[in-house]
Amino acid sequence: MSQEEKYLAHDLYKEDILGRANVSDSPELLAYYQELEKYKTGALWTIANKIEPWQPQSASVPVLWRYSDLREHVIKSADLVTPEQAGRRVVYLNNSGGKGMSTAVGLLYSGLQTMQPGESASAHAHSSSALRFIMEGRGAYTIVDGQKMLLEENDFVLTPNGTWHEHGVEPDGSQCIWQDGLDIPLVNTLEASFYKVHPELRQAVTEPVNSSIALWGAPALRPQNVGWDKPYSPLFRYQWGPTYEALQRYASIAEGSPFDDILMHYTNPLTGGHVMPTLGASMQLLRPGFVGKAHRHTGSFIYQVAKGQGYSIINGQRFDWQKRDIFCVPSWAFHEHVNTSQTEDACLFCFNDLPVIQALQLYYEEALHDNGGHQQVGG
Ligand SMILES: [Fe+2]
Ligand SMILES: [Fe+2]
Repeated sequence: MSQEEKYLAHDLYKEDILGRANVSDSPELLAYYQELEKYKTGALWTIANKIEPWQPQSASVPVLWRYSDLREHVIKSADLVTPEQAGRRVVYLNNSGGKGMSTAVGLLYSGLQTMQPGESASAHAHSSSALRFIMEGRGAYTIVDGQKMLLEENDFVLTPNGTWHEHGVEPDGSQCIWQDGLDIPLVNTLEASFYKVHPELRQAVTEPVNSSIALWGAPALRPQNVGWDKPYSPLFRYQWGPTYEALQRYASIAEGSPFDDILMHYTNPLTGGHVMPTLGASMQLLRPGFVGKAHRHTGSFIYQVAKGQGYSIINGQRFDWQKRDIFCVPSWAFHEHVNTSQTEDACLFCFNDLPVIQALQLYYEEALHDNGGHQQVGG
């Protein structure tokens, strides 16, 4: 049975309310429930409707984090704590609804990290996969398993699960800010989290600078006699320049998606698949005046505005955004994107948990058909 057939079958089943738990409390039942509790058990019908909702129920809400609100607080953190004290000097995005999870949306974590010229954080490794998106500053670098990468604005960088990695800013650079994205809530939910600090606190740079780009960064070309057997992309840095050019070329010949206009996924150049087993990422270009239609799908998504201005309507709420703002789309929330400029394109960086959702056969998508495919704001 296809996903769509399953969904339709579920929808038909929905008509039959008799199929759902519907038991009223009685003194006898309440006593019975108390008896079960003694043995660390419970009656399924008391929780069945909650743990098996008709459709995805995200614990997260749509949020827009304006960079104009956050930037000064991120910069201030550099006056308050050193990277050594903080481990990582980060202001994290908190959409946990008071549940004590470091959740930006769904099971994704995100935060804004800053470093000053000459600063670096100690090398470490963890079970979570991580990515960075460079927001501002000159001279930022990341070292991943002995490969040093020099980073520029709008570059996208991987630090996959289990790799030794460390971040810093060259002494002749400027204060840098970047967005971190990790799958920490997912890994913690799976109770599989390990963390270790490099025994020498710093790792040696054993490969030529930017070597992953030299080997794997050429489009549709694969180096001879270079092996790679890791479950993540061998290309660790995806530069903004070639990414933007690719989007423009795509836009010049394609109609685009009614929902996303021109969207390209960052991929593992060996497989064409997602960059890491648990985190996927994309960059999309909304052409001048683009008005997207609404759809919804499973999976959690965090966007950063890499270029331009516009707004998104998420579950009936309008969020106006400009460059460097961050917003999230929770699972199964209707969303539509608009570029409000008639002359300039807008670009949205996005990372998500699609590799997990797809691997578990949990992806489902549908368009909004009412109201010409657009949500009612406030509806
Ligand atoms: Fe890390
Ligand atoms: Fe979407």
